[in-house]
Amino acid sequence: MSDQAEETAAEGPPIVRMGDPVLRRIATEVADPTAPEIRGLIADMTVSLAEAGGIGLAAPQIGVGLRVILFKVPDARATGDPDDGPCPLTALVNPSFKPADDEMVLGWEGCLSIPGLRGEVPRHQRIKVTGTTPEGSVFEAVLAGTRARVVQHEVDHLDGVLYLDRMTDLARLGFAEEIMEAEAARKWLGADAETGEQDG
Ligand code: NI
Repeated sequence: MSDQAEETAAEGPPIVRMGDPVLRRIATEVADPTAPEIRGLIADMTVSLAEAGGIGLAAPQIGVGLRVILFKVPDARATGDPDDGPCPLTALVNPSFKPADDEMVLGWEGCLSIPGLRGEVPRHQRIKVTGTTPEGSVFEAVLAGTRARVVQHEVDHLDGVLYLDRMTDLARLGFAEEIMEAEAARKWLGADAETGEQDG
């Protein structure tokens, strides 16, 4: 992978779509989060995510079965929760989380591996996240709202789980364009779907 990545550095690896078995496998724990291979993987993922215009990406989505995720929260997606808010692109190695309380919230999600669709998915409102940064530091944080949602979505990818598996009402699944039209009154959905920064 690294040889080819160097030759085609200007272009990120393609994002695999639902149906590729790699999306259904449990990804492997990374032994050394600071290894050059992991730095290269994160660089590849960063390019692929930027090209796709999403807010999160997990390594299996570029065909690599390792426990690495990227996420960010654009200004338009941040909720009013004090533990939410815009955040720059963040990479986590071996991330895991526990619910911080019992509160579940429904919210719209898309996935770069399931292009064009959106579904309403129940997630924990607030989670305690742990992981390792690419620099080798311990990452510990309480995240809520959109931050919590994107991290739960990406960690699910590491366990072979797609957002469709989490849905409780498939009537709330549809094509993004149709949902935007039907739910234009939901300001947040209309605003950021236009930027394309919705999918993880
Ligand atoms: Ni996804």
